Amino acid sequence: MNIAVLRESGAGEARIALMPDSVRKLVALKASLSIESGAGLGAARTDDEYAAAGAEISSDRNALLAAADVLVTVNRPPKEVFSQLKKEAVVLGFLRPLDEPEALAPALEQGLTTFAMELVPRITRAQAMDALSSMATVAGYKAVIVGASHIPRMFPLLMTAAGTVPPARVLVLGAGVAGLQAIATARRLGAVVEGYDVRAAAGEQVRSLGATFLEVDLGGLKTEDAGGYAVELSDEALQRGRDLIAEHAITADVVITTAQVPGRRAPLLVTEEAVNGMKRGSVIIDLAGATGGNCALSKADEIVERSGVTIMAPTNLAATVPVHASQLYSRNVTAFLGLLIKDGELNVDMNDDVVGPSCVTHQGKVVNQRVGAALSAGSST
Ligand code: NAI
Repeated sequence: MNIAVLRESGAGEARIALMPDSVRKLVALKASLSIESGAGLGAARTDDEYAAAGAEISSDRNALLAAADVLVTVNRPPKEVFSQLKKEAVVLGFLRPLDEPEALAPALEQGLTTFAMELVPRITRAQAMDALSSMATVAGYKAVIVGASHIPRMFPLLMTAAGTVPPARVLVLGAGVAGLQAIATARRLGAVVEGYDVRAAAGEQVRSLGATFLEVDLGGLKTEDAGGYAVELSDEALQRGRDLIAEHAITADVVITTAQVPGRRAPLLVTEEAVNGMKRGSVIIDLAGATGGNCALSKADEIVERSGVTIMAPTNLAATVPVHASQLYSRNVTAFLGLLIKDGELNVDMNDDVVGPSCVTHQGKVVNQRVGAALSAGSST
């Protein structure tokens, strides 16, 4: 069984799908690995390190694709890559099956079996494969670093001979994986941190990190589904949240927003009015930019200035920490590949409770119901 890894082609993408330590593990499972020359350089890994781990290095992309049984990627590959793969080949990566399902048409036409890391179920058995959590962890951390380097002040409380420097104030909206990591990072840098989320369970986690949890009275409204994810709130409930946020944003130096509702536009939490009420020199880092943003003024991957407040909405912060983002992702996909390899051969068991739900297309059909629904919703508009 041959596993291929290409150099990622997206702008600003420095991650690689497999790091050399994962190559070693897969070779031990009797797989053969082919890596496109230079693919690891963005993550500080050379061809020599891959060769030492047991991979073949190739500069011939066409040959590499033609021989691949499995192509492992970070991002969805360009469509010409799908058409160069052999029919029974498998593709594994962040394929964006729910927000851009139509982009998988070439994989469907080619009859490929595709697995999306976004669809890996969040069950205990699949925890080691939870790439969404890995990337959210990196993004939450980096958001604080970006915020700290952008504001015109320091984060920690300092008592110096020249007087006291007060600590920075950080407000984190959405306390899921990214938000909790942002809170922990901001606390480590010495900031005073407040956190907000609609899920009551998040309160305890926020407090356990030494931050204050902002509570809003939603009158006993159901805020999360059976899977522990937030549900879309009524406009009235959202408005109560916005009012509370606007009040606390006034004193914040950094606001980090991470609120998402799976399959929906990100909730609007920071209004234009709230931004106008913020201090000059403060910064908003909106991590929900890819799904519309939590701030009314956010523009994905652009920097917006409004009355002295900077609003950034980077959609791929994880790629700016390529070594650790690749390392975590590589371990996640290697754990998943472990389910597809039996005696060194490709063995796809659709009845497996992780493999089946993660599959998007198989033998020329869309096999995931949510993706099927997203496709028909798209074609009917
Ligand atoms: P996410 O990326 O879908 O959303 C981020 C946060 O935004 C969530 O905490 C959500 O409650 C919050 N949010 C949504 N609407 C909001 C609003 N209007 N106002 C304020 N906050 C709002 O979430 P993520 O990080 O993927 O985690 C979601 C849940 O899944 C959490 O309960 C987390 O603990 C759980 N989880 C479970 C895992 C497992 O069991 N293996 C792994 C990772 C997460």
